Amino acid sequence: MAAKKKVMDRVLTLELVRVTERAAIAAAMMRGRGDEKAADQAAVDAMRNELNRLEIRGQVVIGEGERDEAPMLYIGEKVGAGKGPELDIALDPLEGTTICAKNLPNALAVIALTHRGGLLNAPDVYMDKIAVGPGFPDELVDLEMPPQEAIKRVATEKGVKPHQVSACILDRPRHAKLIEAVRKTGCAIRLIGDGDVAGIIHATDPETTGIDIYLGVGGAPEGVLAAAAQRCIGGQMQGRLILDTDEKRARAERMGIDDPSRIYSTEDMASGDVLFSATGVTDGNLLDGVRFGHGVTTTHTIVTRSHTGTQRWVRTRHQVGETFEFVD
Ligand code: FBP
Repeated sequence: MAAKKKVMDRVLTLELVRVTERAAIAAAMMRGRGDEKAADQAAVDAMRNELNRLEIRGQVVIGEGERDEAPMLYIGEKVGAGKGPELDIALDPLEGTTICAKNLPNALAVIALTHRGGLLNAPDVYMDKIAVGPGFPDELVDLEMPPQEAIKRVATEKGVKPHQVSACILDRPRHAKLIEAVRKTGCAIRLIGDGDVAGIIHATDPETTGIDIYLGVGGAPEGVLAAAAQRCIGGQMQGRLILDTDEKRARAERMGIDDPSRIYSTEDMASGDVLFSATGVTDGNLLDGVRFGHGVTTTHTIVTRSHTGTQRWVRTRHQVGETFEFVD
């Protein structure tokens, strides 16, 4: 694949930080107000404005939805200043709209970029996911093995007992059997209300987050974003689209998916030189949320790139006046 040989202009990493920072600040202004839509809209507007300033010819591949259901940052929308490299973009201006509306932990503004053709064009369906962080032997866990086996393998590799392993799972009725199976191993489960991009990223740094493995079914677009993060950080992930109706299979086919039962690796979902940035909206296990002070707003971001694997943790103090206008 030609995309694999190309390396991204590294200046773009800092530009991406600005994009997720602006979206996070806009969402944080609506934090805790019980209004998911308003928070999401604020984040979308801010991310789109900032993206359109970048010297890229970008195309949204994972976005706010199909053109007829999302007026902005829809799949296929061209973004960027119209000159520069041709890039595919996966984004979620506010990942965890409910979390943000309730001011609970781990809402994020996230974006990933790579060369054209480097991201899985995933339809908005569910995806079965499994992920562990870096440092494990290749293919340690996969979607074909029973979850108990995955927990056992992680425990063995870590040199601990299964009851000393922690798994992150979305708290959903559809996960009742999965939760029961994982609990039988003695493994501790952190049940999260929303936000599986954060859940998967948390598995990349168990010492900080206490999460060793992510398991379960969440959104496919979120799966591609999490795979982009995993590519950069060096973790392992697998995803399988859940195409359980003719309508979903047809939609997936229109997006170029010819094998509905395919298991995608991290690299199948995000290839080439991938850049990934996430800024905390609400406080979380890895990223602090936005802090508003007198004339100063602080953000916390992780930005990373697959070509080098470098992770930068950026804490930014934005000097903003009373009108909250940014000085550019
Ligand atoms: P939103 O930000 O779109 O609300 O998504 C939150 C989220 O929890 C994702 O992180 C996750 O992949 C998906 O929803 C799970 O979907 P569902 O709520 O239908 O189980």
